[in-house]
Amino acid sequence: MTDDTVNSTRLSLLGLGDMGTALARAWLAAGYPPTVWNRTPARAEPLAAEGAVVAATAAEAVAASPLVVTCLLDDASVGAALDGTDLAGRDLVNVTTSTPEQARARAAWARKRGARFLSGGVMAVPPMVGRPASGGYVFYGGSPEAFREHEAVLGAAVGARFVGADPGLADLHDVALLSAMSGMFAGITHAFALVRNEEVPLKDFAALLSEWLVAMLASVPETAERLETGDYTTGVVSNLAMQARGNQTLLRTAEEQGVSTELLAPYARLMERRLARGHGDEDGTGLVDLLTRPTA
Ligand SMILES: NC(=O)c1ccc[n+]([C@@H]2O[C@H](COP(=O)([O-])OP(=O)(O)OC[C@H]3O[C@@H](n4cnc5c(N)ncnc54)[C@H](OP(=O)(O)O)[C@@H]3O)[C@@H](O)[C@H]2O)c1
Repeated sequence: MTDDTVNSTRLSLLGLGDMGTALARAWLAAGYPPTVWNRTPARAEPLAAEGAVVAATAAEAVAASPLVVTCLLDDASVGAALDGTDLAGRDLVNVTTSTPEQARARAAWARKRGARFLSGGVMAVPPMVGRPASGGYVFYGGSPEAFREHEAVLGAAVGARFVGADPGLADLHDVALLSAMSGMFAGITHAFALVRNEEVPLKDFAALLSEWLVAMLASVPETAERLETGDYTTGVVSNLAMQARGNQTLLRTAEEQGVSTELLAPYARLMERRLARGHGDEDGTGLVDLLTRPTA
């Protein structure tokens, strides 16, 4: 890198695990050479060779830059790493996966120490970082002023989306999307379990499965609209009574194939509960009510 490609914004990055290392490399490539620190110093060595400045302690890393990014294992490790550092006048951006309450508590903790705070939820895996076309990004919540000031440098590593002044909102968005992903992977796991011992070419099946899941995503905006209007019945094309009956076929097929129903059964039970309360003419939106208000 030549001097004229180095940006003036100084940033420090604490945490060089898989994600922290990907972020460090993306900032190096974008002309923002970071000061880096990691609890296990050996992980910083390759980055030093690539142009990062290595701090010997977390306190030294925090002192080196007005913008301090933490990418550590969990909220407890953030507290441990920053313990005893001087955060006064710093902007702390914590992209460690946290719960919304942990993010709010960490924001209050940082403010008490004189720092502005942003919480981040990373919607990417390391190979997507530093590649704008990958679709990866980070949800940010917290100080709008700090976000405005640092949007360019934060976004130089991986896309930046601000979701509000409540720092917990970034983590809530992160966890909500991850939770949906978890349900999707549960379904994918079950589907492969059903076919794996049959004469089904698995690669062809994978293509069919992906295509089907993408087609089913078309219903996501409709769920939002129904939750907003409270109308769960107008224009329903796959009613709950039919879906609950269909579940019996799904569960029986699992048994026929010798596949455990432990991933499938809880969702089927939820549908049965909603049906038992007389909502057979709805689509699946009422299940959201059942989760948030169990007596609905
Ligand atoms: N990797 C992903 O696909 C991915 C995707 C989205 C979000 N994230 C989030 O990004 C964060 C980092 O993930 P990662 O994949 O980089 O994890 P990782 O590879 O397991 O690295 C964990 C990092 O945390 C440090 N650490 C752990 N406990 C510590 C402590 N008590 N004090 C100081 N440092 C401590 C480790 O230091 P040592 O090297 O000394 O052990 C290492 O730098 C997590 O919150 C994760 O949920 C990861």
